[in-house]
Amino acid sequence: MIEKIEKIKIDFENDVNAVVSVKELEDVRIKYLSRNGSIASLFEELKSVPKEEKPALGKELNSLRNFAQTNFDIRKEGIEKNNSSSKSKLDLSLPGREYLLGNKHILTQTLNDIKSIFKSLGFSVKEGPELESDYYNFEALNFPANHPARDMQDTFFVSKDFLLRTHTTPVQIRIMEKQKPPIRAIMPGKVFRNEAVSARSYCLFHQVDGIYIDENVSFAELNGTLVAFAKQFYNEDLKYRFRASYFPFTEPSAEMDITCFLCKGKGCRVCKHSGWLEILGCGMIDPNVFKSVNYDSEKITGYAFGMGIERIALLKYGINDIRLYFENDFRFLKQF
Ligand code: DAH
Repeated sequence: MIEKIEKIKIDFENDVNAVVSVKELEDVRIKYLSRNGSIASLFEELKSVPKEEKPALGKELNSLRNFAQTNFDIRKEGIEKNNSSSKSKLDLSLPGREYLLGNKHILTQTLNDIKSIFKSLGFSVKEGPELESDYYNFEALNFPANHPARDMQDTFFVSKDFLLRTHTTPVQIRIMEKQKPPIRAIMPGKVFRNEAVSARSYCLFHQVDGIYIDENVSFAELNGTLVAFAKQFYNEDLKYRFRASYFPFTEPSAEMDITCFLCKGKGCRVCKHSGWLEILGCGMIDPNVFKSVNYDSEKITGYAFGMGIERIALLKYGINDIRLYFENDFRFLKQF
């Protein structure tokens, strides 16, 4: 009888482990654990074994029954759990999921618009490295060491001489070193500043610089080019003004303002009640910059300008927080 007990135990284990459906589970229950099952019939047999063998065999049989019942219950629970989760996976009454097509990020769209306007005005597009040397970011642009204008740029220094560029203006130097005038190019790219993140400033943003260098380039040409750009980018009836300003790499320097998009010049919170919004910096390239690339500043003149792409876009679309550009919130992105 002890061999029978062992055989049933092995058979039961094989069968219960192979169960994958409720139906098979029920078959196993009937075969081993029901009133006419094989374990019950062993209890029947126990009645006819010699009296002195009964206690030991009875103990074996009880432990077989407990073993079978416990393992059966565990398997049952597993099957039921599986069934309910596969049922929810196959709920055909659920509405289908909508698959949305992506579109270009608003900053990419804005940069593409800027590029296509300047390309139509005869500018080519050039890029430069994001990791810059102190020389290109400051020194060659007429910011000598300890120049107070360096304070305007909160810089991420990587080492004593290398940094994450704080503007795209160093690409001007890289182009001038490689090319002789006439040069007409714009230089878009990422820039980095170690500023506290807020609705108005972010540690990473994008700029586009531009230059036109030749003989006899005048401020009037700079003015004409930027007005043509602003009218195409914003609208034809746009009002604008140029204000005197200061940049180490241009002389004279100016900033261009356009009428506030929100109050149309009447004065509001966005334009700090002035009616005007600054869109870019510009000026005639300083002779000291030409000196650092060995151009003859007696013969060569040129203009330069630079703008922030986030700012240009937020003024066009009325975006009130620069962080929105970088958070990838679908509710924001899908509006453009
Ligand atoms: N680099 C300046 C900045 O980051 C922007 C700028 C102003 C660029 C005047 C220019 C320029 O090329 O002529 O604030």
